[in-house]
Amino acid sequence: MSYKVQLLDLKKQYGTIKKDVDGALKRVIDEQCFILGKDVDDLEKEIASYCGTKYAVGVASGTDAIQLALQAAGVGKTDEVITVPFTFIATAEAISNIGAKPVFVDIDPKTYNMDPTLIEKKITNKTKAIVPVHLYGQCVDMDRIMAIAKKHDLKVVEDCAQAIGAVFKDKKAGSLGSAGAISFFPSKNLGGFGDGGMVVTDDEKLYERVKLLHLHGSSARYIHSIIGYNSRLDTIQAAVLRVKLKHLDKWSEARRENAEYYNRSFSKINEITVPTVTNHNIHVYHQYVVMVDSKKRDKLMDFLGANGIEARVYYPIPVHLQDCYKDLGYKKGDLSVAEKAALGTLALPVYPELEADEKQLVVNKVTEFFNKGL
Ligand SMILES: Cc1ncc(COP(=O)(O)O)c(C=O)c1O
Repeated sequence: MSYKVQLLDLKKQYGTIKKDVDGALKRVIDEQCFILGKDVDDLEKEIASYCGTKYAVGVASGTDAIQLALQAAGVGKTDEVITVPFTFIATAEAISNIGAKPVFVDIDPKTYNMDPTLIEKKITNKTKAIVPVHLYGQCVDMDRIMAIAKKHDLKVVEDCAQAIGAVFKDKKAGSLGSAGAISFFPSKNLGGFGDGGMVVTDDEKLYERVKLLHLHGSSARYIHSIIGYNSRLDTIQAAVLRVKLKHLDKWSEARRENAEYYNRSFSKINEITVPTVTNHNIHVYHQYVVMVDSKKRDKLMDFLGANGIEARVYYPIPVHLQDCYKDLGYKKGDLSVAEKAALGTLALPVYPELEADEKQLVVNKVTEFFNKGL
């Protein structure tokens, strides 16, 4: 189905940077060096500096970034890792794939982020780490997470897949915990031309360990000190991402302006709850997500679709109720805030290149839906 207003139109972004991106791609192709090298080294330095961390390691995806950071932090088989059920499956998958067990805590109904007041009840003597997810582009209250982590001697890997550039108390996402995991999936705020990810950290030991893990456990050719992975960031991706990084703050600002336009436009519609930005946060709006009555959510999405506007649910089934996690024994009602969010939230187009008439159409059609009591 083709939409007049897409949730994301990457062709528009590419159009604005085509010359520089094509030049960067051509350079890599001319050099015929596709694995590691200067572009990857430079991007690692640039992302570390952007996030305000000492170190960064490019890896093959955001999922790998979480997994390798956890593993490098010493999390392994039979350990428990506390995270949220209202996220993309990758957050939990990264925990499971190293043999650890995800333990889910419910979310805050306003921010849809981890509710820190629920963490301590879930801590056992097997708990090794917490993975808070900065969902939709807003940081979790990291002061509270870090205080709990310190008290119980836990590592914290921030899932920053949706939140590169987001700020909590003057610090960027990824620089607040033991490590941050970034995704460069094409639809992310800083997206490559394929999969990619990065681990950022201030912890030298963790950094050295991720470096080993992502490269077959090897620090010198054909010398392998641990069993690792093939999880490198492609040189081509690094070259594209270096071009895009220069524009990221401007794009985040445009996302915020679009979000504010929607907030103002929806202020008189009682049936819509617009995103809450909590104190000390600068949101980067990877998604602009409203909450409506669960009985109306799908109807609204269908109405928008019929009027050429793409809207989507992130995420319709919380992770604790996914088939792949049935063995963990959760049932409906166990994490009710996440379950309610899965039924009532809807993401509207907010990408930076959205044009005025497109935003206007979104506002007009959402308003029409509620005014007509559809
Ligand atoms: C919250 C969250 N965590 C993890 C990931 C995994 O990132 P990737 O697709 O790069 O593996 C994503 C995105 O896909 C995500 O949105």
